Amino acid sequence: VKEFSDLALRRGFIYPSCEIYGGVAGFYDYGPLGTLLKRNWENLWRTFFMGLDSNFFEIQTCDIMASSVFEASGHIKNFNDPLINCLKCGKRLRPDHLLEERGIQAEGLTLPELDSRIAEAKIDCPYCKGTLSQTRLFNMMFDVKIGASEGEIGYLRPETAQGAYVSFKRLFEVCRNQLPLGLAILGRAYRNEISPRQGFYRLRELNQAELQIFFDPETVGHHKDWDSVKDTRLKTFSVKDREHGEVEERTCEETGLPQFYAYHLAKIQEFYLDVLRVPKSHFRFRELSDEEKAFYNKVHWDVEVCVDSLGGFKELGGLHYRTDHDLKGHQAVSKESMEVNIEGKKFVPHVLELSFGIDRNFWAMMDLAYDVEKERTVMRFPDSIAPYRIAVFPLMKKDGLYEKAWDIYQQLRSKYVCDFDEKGSIGKRYRRHDEIGTPYCVTVDYQTLNDDTVTLRFRDSMEQVRVKGNEIQERVV
Ligand code: GAP
Repeated sequence: VKEFSDLALRRGFIYPSCEIYGGVAGFYDYGPLGTLLKRNWENLWRTFFMGLDSNFFEIQTCDIMASSVFEASGHIKNFNDPLINCLKCGKRLRPDHLLEERGIQAEGLTLPELDSRIAEAKIDCPYCKGTLSQTRLFNMMFDVKIGASEGEIGYLRPETAQGAYVSFKRLFEVCRNQLPLGLAILGRAYRNEISPRQGFYRLRELNQAELQIFFDPETVGHHKDWDSVKDTRLKTFSVKDREHGEVEERTCEETGLPQFYAYHLAKIQEFYLDVLRVPKSHFRFRELSDEEKAFYNKVHWDVEVCVDSLGGFKELGGLHYRTDHDLKGHQAVSKESMEVNIEGKKFVPHVLELSFGIDRNFWAMMDLAYDVEKERTVMRFPDSIAPYRIAVFPLMKKDGLYEKAWDIYQQLRSKYVCDFDEKGSIGKRYRRHDEIGTPYCVTVDYQTLNDDTVTLRFRDSMEQVRVKGNEIQERVV
């Protein structure tokens, strides 16, 4: 795990923000390779999910929103984590995490229950052994002062979702009054996590890719493309399955979930298995119990991927049936009607939310790709995720090889993100690019000057073939 994290840092995929000042837990920056990888993941997500329906669109909305938004959404009241502090050193801690670290189940416990479990297990401060306080609730939103006037408080959004809800009525009209309507937002969200100790997993400034699908609640039992997925076998880990610890494969039909919900489970699984190439053994949907569900959800299954460096299956996303919770909340607080009128039928739409943490997906892609062989470390990214698709090397900087390689690089660059690497031996250059997951390397040597052929080297097999310069593109698709 350490070597893997070191690679991510050393090659500048990600690194702690404000590092020269010691950094602040839960804040990370993306370097050049990390930015390329993250962008590739986001673009795959866009292409796949925006392609599900011609009435799905991407929008961009503000990170800072008025406090009324979160009064209406319920975040001011409910977006809390339990907090305990050490009466000796003052450290602030999560009592549920302290219990779970000792194998004691803490999900869904009330504050007094948390206190009694902490007392029963005789847990004291992990830093100084001091006595712990009673548990209280801590709201996880970051508040901000807006403008110069006193009193005007806003919040950094804790989820991208609200941007789509508050403008739903306008966008419904803009998008020609049709349902289902999908509004996607990719962007930052902010959560003042109490003790983000798991490195890159629990961030305070995070990135989300969320798609809000507004639909007529009477149609939740149907989906127009149901036949294309109804026999798809989903890897499900239901609340019941969890009693015996076994993941079950069920067809969409066998899940018994409404078609509109199960269809999107199938599409999410397709995205992970076919687009991101996550091995089937490393993927599952986990159903959340009533105690575990987010306060706005009626049906809630998480998307989980096995991430070795984080210790096993981890939540990377979720499919949330939020009903009319948010639109009704905004209707009540703003006094603006959220009703639509479709051919004389008036109703407040329901929302199905596909929600993904981009940073956690990024880390999972890194983790799954990481492989150490006898002579090399190699990141086996799928081509579509790899930061660079092709690297071009001149064997030497002299005798016209550099210029020839540069020409080839310029041609390839118009189609792919490419690197040009002229430093060190060819062997070292191959190793460097194996380590950052470049699937193809092209070497220009003296033979190139005679017959226009180059060496094309494949990352995974390390096979090298001689191809014409103008055939490279055919070989790397
Ligand atoms: N709009 C719904 C929503 O925000 P969530 O389960 O709270 O739901 C969605 O968050 C996803 O965002 C999670 O599945 C996870 O991947 C990511 N996420 C949530 N909190 C995070 C954190 N502190 N750090 C990194 N990613 C986080």
